[in-house]
Amino acid sequence: MAADEPLVLGIETSCDETGVGIVRGTTLLADAVASSVDTHARFGGVVPEIASRAHLEAMVPTIERALKEAGVSARDLDGIAVTSGPGLAGALLVGVSAAKAYAYALGKPLYGVNHLASHICVDQLEHGPLPEPTMALLVSGGHSSLLLAPDITSDVRPLGATIDDAAGEAFDKIARVLDLGFPGGPVIDRLAKEGDPAAIAFPRGLTGPRDAPYDFSFSGLKTSVARWIEAKRAAGEEVPVRDVAASFQEAVVDVLTRKAVRACKDEGVDHLMIGGGVAANSRLRALAQERCERAGIRLRVPRPKLCTDNGAMVAALGAEMVARNRLPSDLELSADSSLPVTEPHVPGASHTHSHAHSRSHDHVHEISKDNLYS
Ligand code: KG4
Ligand code: ZN
Repeated sequence: MAADEPLVLGIETSCDETGVGIVRGTTLLADAVASSVDTHARFGGVVPEIASRAHLEAMVPTIERALKEAGVSARDLDGIAVTSGPGLAGALLVGVSAAKAYAYALGKPLYGVNHLASHICVDQLEHGPLPEPTMALLVSGGHSSLLLAPDITSDVRPLGATIDDAAGEAFDKIARVLDLGFPGGPVIDRLAKEGDPAAIAFPRGLTGPRDAPYDFSFSGLKTSVARWIEAKRAAGEEVPVRDVAASFQEAVVDVLTRKAVRACKDEGVDHLMIGGGVAANSRLRALAQERCERAGIRLRVPRPKLCTDNGAMVAALGAEMVARNRLPSDLELSADSSLPVTEPHVPGASHTHSHAHSRSHDHVHEISKDNLYS
Protein backbone atom coordinates (compact mmCIF):
# COMPACT_ATOMS: atom_id res chain seq x y z
CA MET A 1 0.00 0.00 0.00
CA ALA A 2 1.62 3.22 -1.13
CA ALA A 3 1.12 6.23 1.15
CA ASP A 4 0.54 8.46 -1.89
CA GLU A 5 -2.54 6.51 -2.94
CA PRO A 6 -5.79 8.39 -2.32
CA LEU A 7 -7.40 7.96 1.09
CA VAL A 8 -11.16 8.10 0.62
CA LEU A 9 -14.18 7.70 2.86
CA GLY A 10 -17.32 6.32 1.23
CA ILE A 11 -20.91 6.61 2.44
CA GLU A 12 -23.70 4.28 1.29
CA THR A 13 -27.35 4.79 2.25
CA SER A 14 -29.29 3.77 -0.87
CA CYS A 15 -31.39 1.11 0.85
CA ASP A 16 -31.42 -0.31 4.39
CA GLU A 17 -27.71 -0.48 5.25
CA THR A 18 -25.84 2.56 6.53
CA GLY A 19 -22.38 1.74 5.21
CA VAL A 20 -19.19 3.70 5.76
CA GLY A 21 -15.95 2.42 4.28
CA ILE A 22 -12.44 3.79 4.11
CA VAL A 23 -9.91 2.73 1.49
CA ARG A 24 -6.46 3.79 0.43
CA GLY A 25 -6.17 3.16 -3.30
CA THR A 26 -7.32 -0.43 -3.61
CA THR A 27 -6.67 -1.35 0.01
CA LEU A 28 -9.59 -1.70 2.41
CA LEU A 29 -8.97 -0.01 5.76
CA ALA A 30 -12.45 -0.01 7.31
CA ASP A 31 -15.92 -1.30 6.49
CA ALA A 32 -18.52 -0.25 9.07
CA VAL A 33 -22.14 -1.20 8.45
CA ALA A 34 -25.25 -0.53 10.52
CA SER A 35 -28.31 -2.32 9.16
CA SER A 36 -31.97 -1.60 9.80
CA VAL A 37 -32.98 -4.88 8.14
CA ASP A 38 -34.47 -6.34 11.34
CA THR A 39 -36.81 -3.39 11.65
CA HIS A 40 -38.06 -3.96 8.11
CA ALA A 41 -38.31 -7.75 8.38
CA ARG A 42 -41.71 -7.70 10.07
CA PHE A 43 -43.12 -5.65 7.17
CA GLY A 44 -41.78 -8.14 4.61
CA GLY A 45 -39.73 -5.53 2.76
CA VAL A 46 -37.81 -2.29 3.17
CA VAL A 47 -40.00 0.58 4.42
CA PRO A 48 -38.45 3.78 3.00
CA GLU A 49 -39.43 6.07 5.89
CA ILE A 50 -37.99 3.70 8.46
CA ALA A 51 -34.80 3.31 6.43
CA SER A 52 -34.29 7.10 6.22
CA ARG A 53 -34.76 7.55 9.94
CA ALA A 54 -32.42 4.68 10.75
CA HIS A 55 -29.74 6.17 8.44
CA LEU A 56 -30.05 9.49 10.22
CA GLU A 57 -29.48 7.90 13.60
CA ALA A 58 -26.65 5.64 12.45
CA MET A 59 -24.79 8.11 10.20
CA VAL A 60 -22.39 9.94 12.51
CA PRO A 61 -21.64 6.97 14.82
CA THR A 62 -20.90 4.78 11.77
CA ILE A 63 -18.57 7.40 10.27
CA GLU A 64 -16.74 7.65 13.58
CA ARG A 65 -16.51 3.90 13.91
CA ALA A 66 -15.01 3.64 10.42
CA LEU A 67 -12.41 6.35 11.08
CA LYS A 68 -11.42 4.59 14.31
CA GLU A 69 -11.27 1.20 12.64
CA ALA A 70 -9.03 2.59 9.86
CA GLY A 71 -6.89 4.45 12.38
CA VAL A 72 -7.01 7.63 10.31
CA SER A 73 -8.11 11.18 11.00
CA ALA A 74 -10.82 12.84 8.89
CA ARG A 75 -8.27 15.57 8.17
CA ASP A 76 -6.08 13.11 6.24
CA LEU A 77 -8.81 12.14 3.76
CA ASP A 78 -8.31 13.01 0.09
CA GLY A 79 -12.00 12.87 -0.68
CA ILE A 80 -15.49 11.98 0.50
CA ALA A 81 -17.52 9.71 -1.79
CA VAL A 82 -21.22 9.04 -1.45
CA THR A 83 -23.85 7.04 -3.29
CA SER A 84 -25.96 9.69 -5.01
CA GLY A 85 -28.13 7.08 -6.77
CA PRO A 86 -29.88 4.93 -7.73
CA GLY A 87 -31.86 3.96 -4.63
CA LEU A 88 -34.57 5.16 -2.26
CA ALA A 89 -34.76 8.96 -2.54
CA GLY A 90 -35.15 9.70 1.17
CA ALA A 91 -32.49 7.21 2.17
CA LEU A 92 -30.00 8.55 -0.40
CA LEU A 93 -30.64 12.06 0.81
CA VAL A 94 -29.34 11.26 4.29
CA GLY A 95 -26.02 10.00 2.94
CA VAL A 96 -25.68 12.83 0.42
CA SER A 97 -26.39 15.46 3.09
CA ALA A 98 -23.88 13.91 5.48
CA ALA A 99 -21.21 13.67 2.78
CA LYS A 100 -21.73 17.30 1.78
CA ALA A 101 -21.51 18.43 5.40
CA TYR A 102 -18.25 16.56 5.97
CA ALA A 103 -16.78 17.64 2.63
CA TYR A 104 -17.68 21.27 3.33
CA ALA A 105 -16.48 21.30 6.93
CA LEU A 106 -13.21 19.52 6.11
CA GLY A 107 -12.58 21.28 2.81
CA LYS A 108 -12.35 17.97 0.93
CA PRO A 109 -13.53 17.17 -2.59
CA LEU A 110 -16.92 15.48 -2.81
CA TYR A 111 -17.70 12.63 -5.23
CA GLY A 112 -21.31 11.62 -5.81
CA VAL A 113 -20.98 8.11 -7.24
CA ASN A 114 -23.22 5.49 -8.78
CA HIS A 115 -24.28 2.60 -6.54
CA LEU A 116 -24.11 0.10 -9.41
CA ALA A 117 -20.62 1.06 -10.56
CA SER A 118 -19.57 0.82 -6.89
CA HIS A 119 -20.80 -2.80 -6.75
CA ILE A 120 -18.33 -3.52 -9.56
CA CYS A 121 -15.42 -1.38 -8.39
CA VAL A 122 -15.43 -2.99 -4.92
CA ASP A 123 -13.70 -6.02 -6.40
CA GLN A 124 -10.51 -3.97 -6.65
CA LEU A 125 -10.28 -4.30 -2.87
CA GLU A 126 -10.27 -8.07 -3.20
CA HIS A 127 -8.57 -8.89 -6.49
CA GLY A 128 -6.64 -5.73 -7.38
CA PRO A 129 -7.19 -3.33 -10.30
CA LEU A 130 -10.05 -4.23 -12.64
CA PRO A 131 -9.07 -5.27 -16.15
CA GLU A 132 -10.15 -2.91 -18.92
CA PRO A 133 -12.64 -3.50 -20.25
CA THR A 134 -14.42 -5.24 -17.38
CA MET A 135 -17.35 -7.55 -18.10
CA ALA A 136 -19.70 -7.39 -15.12
CA LEU A 137 -22.81 -9.28 -14.17
CA LEU A 138 -24.58 -7.01 -11.70
CA VAL A 139 -27.26 -8.73 -9.67
CA SER A 140 -28.91 -6.99 -6.74
CA GLY A 141 -32.31 -6.40 -5.19
CA GLY A 142 -33.17 -3.67 -7.68
CA HIS A 143 -31.01 -4.43 -10.73
CA SER A 144 -29.85 -7.28 -12.94
CA SER A 145 -27.65 -6.31 -15.86
CA LEU A 146 -24.74 -7.31 -17.98
CA LEU A 147 -22.35 -4.40 -18.29
CA LEU A 148 -19.22 -3.79 -20.30
CA ALA A 149 -17.04 -1.17 -18.65
CA PRO A 150 -13.97 0.08 -20.55
CA ASP A 151 -13.37 2.45 -17.59
CA ILE A 152 -15.38 2.06 -14.39
CA THR A 153 -15.00 5.78 -13.56
CA SER A 154 -16.31 7.11 -16.85
CA ASP A 155 -17.54 4.52 -19.33
CA VAL A 156 -20.08 1.82 -18.41
CA ARG A 157 -22.12 0.27 -21.24
CA PRO A 158 -25.21 -1.86 -20.64
CA LEU A 159 -25.39 -4.96 -22.85
CA GLY A 160 -28.63 -6.19 -21.35
CA ALA A 161 -30.85 -6.01 -18.28
CA THR A 162 -33.92 -7.53 -16.72
CA ILE A 163 -37.15 -6.66 -18.47
CA ASP A 164 -39.18 -7.21 -15.29
CA ASP A 165 -37.99 -8.33 -11.81
CA ALA A 166 -34.41 -8.11 -10.59
CA ALA A 167 -32.78 -11.40 -9.54
CA GLY A 168 -32.72 -10.41 -5.85
CA GLU A 169 -36.34 -9.32 -6.04
CA ALA A 170 -37.26 -12.81 -7.30
CA PHE A 171 -35.45 -14.37 -4.31
CA ASP A 172 -37.30 -12.02 -1.95
CA LYS A 173 -40.70 -12.73 -3.52
CA ILE A 174 -40.32 -16.51 -3.51
CA ALA A 175 -39.15 -16.38 0.11
CA ARG A 176 -42.32 -14.48 0.94
CA VAL A 177 -44.50 -17.09 -0.78
CA LEU A 178 -42.68 -19.76 1.25
CA ASP A 179 -43.06 -17.72 4.50
CA LEU A 180 -39.30 -17.55 4.95
CA GLY A 181 -39.05 -13.88 5.92
CA PHE A 182 -37.05 -11.00 4.45
CA PRO A 183 -34.58 -10.69 2.80
CA GLY A 184 -35.11 -13.91 0.90
CA GLY A 185 -31.71 -14.51 -0.71
CA PRO A 186 -29.69 -15.72 2.27
CA VAL A 187 -32.38 -18.09 3.61
CA ILE A 188 -33.12 -19.61 0.17
CA ASP A 189 -29.37 -20.04 -0.34
CA ARG A 190 -29.13 -21.92 2.97
CA LEU A 191 -32.20 -24.15 2.48
CA ALA A 192 -31.28 -24.92 -1.13
CA LYS A 193 -28.11 -26.65 0.08
CA GLU A 194 -30.32 -29.40 1.52
CA GLY A 195 -32.64 -29.61 -1.50
CA ASP A 196 -32.51 -31.15 -4.97
CA PRO A 197 -31.96 -28.54 -7.71
CA ALA A 198 -33.35 -30.97 -10.29
CA ALA A 199 -36.50 -31.82 -8.31
CA ILE A 200 -38.73 -29.40 -10.23
CA ALA A 201 -38.09 -28.13 -13.78
CA PHE A 202 -38.85 -24.41 -13.45
CA PRO A 203 -38.69 -22.23 -16.60
CA ARG A 204 -35.55 -20.41 -17.76
CA GLY A 205 -36.73 -16.98 -18.94
CA LEU A 206 -35.56 -15.47 -22.26
CA THR A 207 -33.35 -18.38 -23.23
CA GLY A 208 -34.99 -19.19 -26.59
CA PRO A 209 -33.03 -18.76 -29.83
CA ARG A 210 -34.96 -15.61 -30.74
CA ASP A 211 -34.75 -13.99 -27.30
CA ALA A 212 -32.48 -11.06 -26.54
CA PRO A 213 -29.22 -12.80 -25.60
CA TYR A 214 -28.27 -10.54 -22.68
CA ASP A 215 -31.66 -9.59 -21.26
CA PHE A 216 -33.22 -11.33 -18.27
CA SER A 217 -36.77 -12.06 -17.14
CA PHE A 218 -37.63 -13.52 -13.75
CA SER A 219 -41.30 -12.72 -13.51
CA GLY A 220 -42.46 -15.85 -15.39
CA LEU A 221 -40.28 -17.99 -13.14
CA LYS A 222 -41.70 -16.31 -10.05
CA THR A 223 -45.29 -16.95 -11.19
CA SER A 224 -44.48 -20.54 -12.08
CA VAL A 225 -42.94 -21.23 -8.65
CA ALA A 226 -45.86 -19.54 -6.85
CA ARG A 227 -48.41 -21.60 -8.87
CA TRP A 228 -46.55 -24.81 -8.15
CA ILE A 229 -46.62 -24.06 -4.41
CA GLU A 230 -50.32 -23.10 -4.52
CA ALA A 231 -51.21 -26.33 -6.28
CA LYS A 232 -49.42 -28.38 -3.63
CA ARG A 233 -51.18 -26.50 -0.85
CA ALA A 234 -54.57 -26.79 -2.58
CA ALA A 235 -54.07 -30.55 -2.82
CA GLY A 236 -53.37 -30.62 0.92
CA GLU A 237 -49.82 -31.82 0.29
CA GLU A 238 -46.77 -30.65 2.14
CA VAL A 239 -44.57 -28.21 0.18
CA PRO A 240 -41.02 -29.56 -0.13
CA VAL A 241 -39.48 -26.19 0.77
CA ARG A 242 -35.86 -27.27 0.31
CA ASP A 243 -36.47 -28.74 -3.14
CA VAL A 244 -38.48 -25.69 -4.23
CA ALA A 245 -35.69 -23.39 -2.97
CA ALA A 246 -32.99 -25.42 -4.73
CA SER A 247 -34.91 -25.74 -8.01
CA PHE A 248 -35.89 -22.06 -8.08
CA GLN A 249 -32.33 -20.96 -7.27
CA GLU A 250 -30.94 -23.26 -9.97
CA ALA A 251 -33.25 -21.69 -12.57
CA VAL A 252 -32.02 -18.20 -11.65
CA VAL A 253 -28.30 -18.94 -11.52
CA ASP A 254 -28.41 -21.15 -14.61
CA VAL A 255 -29.70 -18.25 -16.71
CA LEU A 256 -27.42 -15.65 -15.11
CA THR A 257 -24.23 -17.63 -15.64
CA ARG A 258 -25.17 -18.88 -19.09
CA LYS A 259 -25.79 -15.35 -20.40
CA ALA A 260 -22.75 -13.87 -18.66
CA VAL A 261 -20.39 -16.47 -20.13
CA ARG A 262 -21.92 -15.95 -23.56
CA ALA A 263 -21.40 -12.18 -23.28
CA CYS A 264 -17.72 -12.73 -22.43
CA LYS A 265 -17.26 -15.03 -25.41
CA ASP A 266 -19.13 -12.71 -27.82
CA GLU A 267 -17.19 -9.65 -26.68
CA GLY A 268 -13.86 -11.46 -26.46
CA VAL A 269 -13.40 -10.64 -22.77
CA ASP A 270 -11.45 -13.29 -20.87
CA HIS A 271 -12.74 -12.59 -17.37
CA LEU A 272 -16.06 -12.01 -15.63
CA MET A 273 -16.82 -9.91 -12.57
CA ILE A 274 -20.00 -10.62 -10.58
CA GLY A 275 -21.27 -8.00 -8.14
CA GLY A 276 -24.35 -7.00 -6.13
CA GLY A 277 -26.18 -8.69 -3.24
CA VAL A 278 -27.10 -11.82 -5.24
CA ALA A 279 -23.38 -12.38 -5.97
CA ALA A 280 -23.22 -13.53 -2.33
CA ASN A 281 -25.23 -16.61 -3.41
CA SER A 282 -23.14 -19.75 -2.93
CA ARG A 283 -24.65 -21.65 -5.86
CA LEU A 284 -24.22 -18.70 -8.24
CA ARG A 285 -20.56 -18.50 -7.22
CA ALA A 286 -20.02 -22.25 -7.69
CA LEU A 287 -21.80 -22.54 -11.04
CA ALA A 288 -20.12 -19.39 -12.37
CA GLN A 289 -16.74 -20.82 -11.37
CA GLU A 290 -17.51 -24.12 -13.10
CA ARG A 291 -18.76 -22.54 -16.33
CA CYS A 292 -16.04 -19.88 -16.47
CA GLU A 293 -13.34 -22.51 -16.02
CA ARG A 294 -14.79 -24.57 -18.84
CA ALA A 295 -14.81 -21.50 -21.11
CA GLY A 296 -11.33 -20.33 -20.12
CA ILE A 297 -12.70 -17.24 -18.39
CA ARG A 298 -11.25 -15.90 -15.15
CA LEU A 299 -13.94 -15.26 -12.54
CA ARG A 300 -13.76 -12.35 -10.07
CA VAL A 301 -16.34 -12.26 -7.28
CA PRO A 302 -15.74 -10.32 -4.08
CA ARG A 303 -16.26 -12.06 -0.73
CA PRO A 304 -19.97 -12.14 0.26
CA LYS A 305 -19.71 -9.25 2.73
CA LEU A 306 -18.46 -6.96 -0.05
CA CYS A 307 -21.22 -8.13 -2.44
CA THR A 308 -24.14 -6.87 -0.36
CA ASP A 309 -24.46 -3.10 0.17
CA ASN A 310 -21.57 -1.53 2.07
CA GLY A 311 -19.58 1.69 2.30
CA ALA A 312 -16.27 0.18 1.18
CA MET A 313 -17.57 -0.16 -2.37
CA VAL A 314 -18.37 3.55 -2.50
CA ALA A 315 -14.94 4.41 -1.10
CA ALA A 316 -13.34 2.08 -3.68
CA LEU A 317 -14.99 3.90 -6.57
CA GLY A 318 -14.28 7.29 -4.94
CA ALA A 319 -10.58 6.42 -4.66
CA GLU A 320 -10.53 5.48 -8.33
CA MET A 321 -12.17 8.86 -9.17
CA VAL A 322 -9.41 10.65 -7.25
CA ALA A 323 -6.66 8.49 -8.79
CA ARG A 324 -7.94 9.28 -12.28
CA ASN A 325 -8.42 12.99 -11.62
CA ARG A 326 -12.16 12.94 -12.24
CA LEU A 327 -13.94 16.22 -11.61
CA PRO A 328 -15.46 16.32 -8.10
CA SER A 329 -19.16 16.97 -7.60
CA ASP A 330 -20.58 20.36 -6.65
CA LEU A 331 -21.92 21.00 -3.18
CA GLU A 332 -25.29 21.32 -4.95
CA LEU A 333 -25.10 17.54 -5.50
CA SER A 334 -28.51 15.99 -5.00
CA ALA A 335 -29.77 12.45 -4.62
CA ASP A 336 -30.97 10.91 -7.89
CA SER A 337 -33.10 7.85 -7.21
CA SER A 338 -32.90 6.78 -10.85
CA LEU A 339 -29.30 7.70 -11.70
CA PRO A 340 -28.56 5.68 -14.88
CA VAL A 341 -25.90 2.99 -14.77
CA THR A 342 -24.12 4.80 -17.61
CA GLU A 343 -23.16 7.63 -15.22
CA PRO A 344 -20.50 6.32 -12.80
CA HIS A 345 -20.35 9.67 -11.04
CA VAL A 346 -21.93 13.10 -10.97
CA PRO A 347 -19.25 15.64 -11.95
CA GLY A 348 -19.57 19.29 -10.94
CA ALA A 349 -21.25 21.70 -13.32
CA SER A 350 -18.57 24.25 -14.16
CA HIS A 351 -15.21 25.69 -13.24
CA THR A 352 -16.67 28.97 -12.05
CA HIS A 353 -18.86 26.98 -9.74
CA SER A 354 -16.14 24.82 -8.32
CA HIS A 355 -13.91 27.86 -7.88
CA ALA A 356 -16.55 29.56 -5.77
CA HIS A 357 -16.82 26.40 -3.74
CA SER A 358 -13.16 25.92 -3.20
CA ARG A 359 -12.95 29.43 -1.81
CA SER A 360 -15.64 28.78 0.72
CA HIS A 361 -13.98 25.44 1.40
CA ASP A 362 -10.74 27.14 2.33
CA HIS A 363 -12.52 29.41 4.69
CA VAL A 364 -14.36 26.63 6.45
CA HIS A 365 -11.27 24.48 6.41
CA GLU A 366 -9.62 26.93 8.81
CA ILE A 367 -12.54 26.83 11.19
CA SER A 368 -12.85 23.07 10.98
CA LYS A 369 -9.21 22.46 11.76
CA ASP A 370 -9.34 24.48 14.90
CA ASN A 371 -12.77 23.73 16.15
CA LEU A 372 -14.01 20.46 14.77
CA TYR A 373 -11.17 18.05 14.37
CA SER A 374 -8.32 19.28 16.51
O1 KG4 B 1 -26.94 -5.21 -3.49
P1 KG4 B 1 -27.90 -5.43 -2.38
O2 KG4 B 1 -27.34 -5.64 -1.00
O3 KG4 B 1 -28.94 -4.25 -2.31
C1 KG4 B 1 -29.40 -3.66 -3.47
O4 KG4 B 1 -28.68 -2.79 -4.03
O5 KG4 B 1 -30.48 -4.09 -3.92
O6 KG4 B 1 -28.80 -6.68 -2.80
C2 KG4 B 1 -29.84 -7.13 -1.99
C3 KG4 B 1 -30.44 -8.35 -2.62
C4 KG4 B 1 -31.68 -8.85 -1.89
O7 KG4 B 1 -32.71 -9.07 -2.85
C5 KG4 B 1 -31.23 -10.16 -1.26
O8 KG4 B 1 -32.26 -11.11 -1.13
C6 KG4 B 1 -30.16 -10.60 -2.22
O9 KG4 B 1 -29.49 -9.44 -2.60
N1 KG4 B 1 -29.21 -11.53 -1.60
C7 KG4 B 1 -29.04 -12.81 -2.01
C8 KG4 B 1 -28.11 -13.40 -1.12
N2 KG4 B 1 -27.71 -12.45 -0.22
C9 KG4 B 1 -28.40 -11.31 -0.54
N3 KG4 B 1 -29.63 -13.49 -3.01
C10 KG4 B 1 -29.28 -14.78 -3.15
N4 KG4 B 1 -28.42 -15.43 -2.33
C11 KG4 B 1 -27.80 -14.78 -1.33
N5 KG4 B 1 -26.94 -15.42 -0.53
ZN1 ZN C 1 -26.74 -2.77 -3.92
